[in-house]
Amino acid sequence: MSRARQQLGHESAIGHVTGRAVYTDEQYPGVGLLSLYPVQAPHAHARILGIDTAAARAMPGVHAVLTPADIPGENNTGPILHDEPLIPIDVVQFYGQAVAWVVADSEAQAQAAAAVVQSRYEPLPACLNIAQAIAEQAFHLPPARVARGDADAALAQAPLRLSGELDIGGQDHFYLETHASWAQVDCEGIVQVTASTQHPSETQRMVAHVLGLPANRVVCRSLRMGGGFGGKETQANSFAALAALAAQITGRPVRVKLPRSLDMQLTGKRHPFFARYEVGFDHDGRLLALDAELFADGGWSCDLSPPVLMRAMVHIDNAYFIPDVRITGLIGKTHLASNTAFRGFGGPQGMVVGEEVLDRVARHLRLPPEQVRERNFYRPGENPDRNTTPYGQVVVDNHLPELWKQLLSDSDGIAITPVKFGISFNKTEYNQAGALVHIYTDGSIALNHGGTEMGQGLHSKMLAVAGNALGVSVDRIQLMVTSTDKVPNTSATAASSGADLNGQAVKAACDTLLARMAPIAAIQLHGEAQDVVFADDHVFLRSTPDHRLAFAEVVMAAYNARVSLSATGYYSTPGLSWNADTGHGHPFYYFAFGAAVSEVEVCAYTGVHRLLRVDLLHDVGNPLIESIDRGQIEGGFVQGLGWLTCEELRWNEHGRLLTDAPSTYKIPTVSDVPEDFHLSLFQRSTPPSTHVIGNSKAVGEPPFMLALSVREAIRDAVAAFGSNQRVDLAAPATPEAIYTAIQRQRNGGERA
Ligand code: MTE
Ligand code: MOS
Repeated sequence: MSRARQQLGHESAIGHVTGRAVYTDEQYPGVGLLSLYPVQAPHAHARILGIDTAAARAMPGVHAVLTPADIPGENNTGPILHDEPLIPIDVVQFYGQAVAWVVADSEAQAQAAAAVVQSRYEPLPACLNIAQAIAEQAFHLPPARVARGDADAALAQAPLRLSGELDIGGQDHFYLETHASWAQVDCEGIVQVTASTQHPSETQRMVAHVLGLPANRVVCRSLRMGGGFGGKETQANSFAALAALAAQITGRPVRVKLPRSLDMQLTGKRHPFFARYEVGFDHDGRLLALDAELFADGGWSCDLSPPVLMRAMVHIDNAYFIPDVRITGLIGKTHLASNTAFRGFGGPQGMVVGEEVLDRVARHLRLPPEQVRERNFYRPGENPDRNTTPYGQVVVDNHLPELWKQLLSDSDGIAITPVKFGISFNKTEYNQAGALVHIYTDGSIALNHGGTEMGQGLHSKMLAVAGNALGVSVDRIQLMVTSTDKVPNTSATAASSGADLNGQAVKAACDTLLARMAPIAAIQLHGEAQDVVFADDHVFLRSTPDHRLAFAEVVMAAYNARVSLSATGYYSTPGLSWNADTGHGHPFYYFAFGAAVSEVEVCAYTGVHRLLRVDLLHDVGNPLIESIDRGQIEGGFVQGLGWLTCEELRWNEHGRLLTDAPSTYKIPTVSDVPEDFHLSLFQRSTPPSTHVIGNSKAVGEPPFMLALSVREAIRDAVAAFGSNQRVDLAAPATPEAIYTAIQRQRNGGERA
């Protein structure tokens, strides 16, 4: 069985490199496909006085121009709050927002017609960044809070105190495949939607809302995405709804696919944050109290901002115990695209603040930062009070202190940072999954599960789980397109839980089928059902492994005996609880752990840095497919260093995104990968104490935050230019930011 594990790579690897893997934006839906293109508003905030579509409707190839009046159901796609009109009625809320959509024979015709739509606006004052939102007290919701003990009293009594502020930049997802959906109404009037979405069930729900249909009249499929990274967790819904609306109105298949610049203008990004903190500590660098305020720039609508902010709040502690804590969180309402999920889901922003605090404390005391970090770790076996997070969850299965020691000795490094990341959706009800497995009479198998594939290898892992469970080679199994008519009411593939949740559901379905087939095989083999073994595409009794039946023979016998060869599987994560109002509970099934060491060189004349060497040590338990997990760790780390060093979003004074193309928005490329890059998987002495599929651990997001070590390495390098006890560094640490930090360091001045 472990053999099957080792042989597998990514199921679409050959398709990816040959270009044969098909994505939503290039599927050919058949004759008469129409295209959509938006009419964009040239204001960040404005009252809509009138939109005249007559000229556009008269343009060649135009079939319709979608406006709010065309929406038969609810003009809203807000996933948490109902604050997101699909097409705005009276007010524009961000620069470039689509106020109408042209449906035409070709995208070029739709675009040409969009250009002649006459719109009139009355500009309104706009709020364009988080600082302005704080000044104007423009927030989406009342403050959220996570607290323990008495932070005020503990700060007052602490021997030492420091306070500070930090701005943290956002990040564009820059998935290779931009947002894309196409829809068609079939001969039964069922709306068939194919979308590049991480959350087909919610896309189905939103399409149904907008069209005023029950959910059973809409099917949503997702074959694979060319990257999602959280950007397609909610934000695919509106594009799918527009394609469906246009298909319903025209009776033709309709596709929307966004050119890169439109994708960057219209869709939300990682939330920029602003943080204020005050920390109390002792002369050894032990943290005693933390009072922190986190402000997330939510953009124009709420989207997923509340859970993103909450994940930031429950990750500010990272791997460190802080006795008395008060964390307050607010979501700024700005006139910008609505910010959304992005790998780490707020966790990275919280952890940047936590690591900033640790660095401030260490430098203030002139102690080695790695010593101060280690001194504050949650420690297994210690007084449970010292091993509990501010939100009340005990940190079990904590191998970090051991992992840390190992990495320090293997890396001879300077800047080392830990990662502790909670696995599960905070929202307890999301922690469930389903699967549907059919075995056909020729012994071939069709595998359906509720998760989506975005490059992270979930489909491959599910094939491995099913192959292991049924004792068959994965060649026998066909992975089917994720579809809401196969597995209903699914959760987003997100929170790194795709393999954990769907894997258990797939296994449950397979176990049901085995339990049905084993008695049939027992009759054929003249033994007992409990002694039947399914392995290597054969079936035999444990005591007589040489007397074997082919898997397909047993399948046929089961069919002849009128035994069902189709089964659903279902899983819900046990033991979770979470109260978002009190910020208290046991939201995570377990924690992922890792650590990273980075070594950089900075140039004082240009501020350019070079990443010389990186050592990563990460705990993935017993990986379902090792090569995929290694890819996730390396890729996550590089995406993280992009966020922290080179990716910078800029808007002009009117709120127009200036960095809406790869020419102005720099993502890391192969030349940014560290010259000397080491990755080791942590070898555990004991299996994880929580039962995760195959004793594996989630890997999708946690490695992103290993890149924090790059930021700390740059800070160390900047520190070498002076003797300040404080080294401020902007996030992202672009060449400009590094140059400025070095100048400040040389001048001996602290930041005002
Ligand atoms: N890896 C690739 N190649 N492409 C992606 O879009 N998304 C990340 C991560 N790794 C992503 C990826 C994010 S944000 C999450 S939450 C997880 O994959 C989701 O998949 P999983 O739960 O199956 O790990
Ligand atoms: Mo990932 S941000 O949870 O899609």
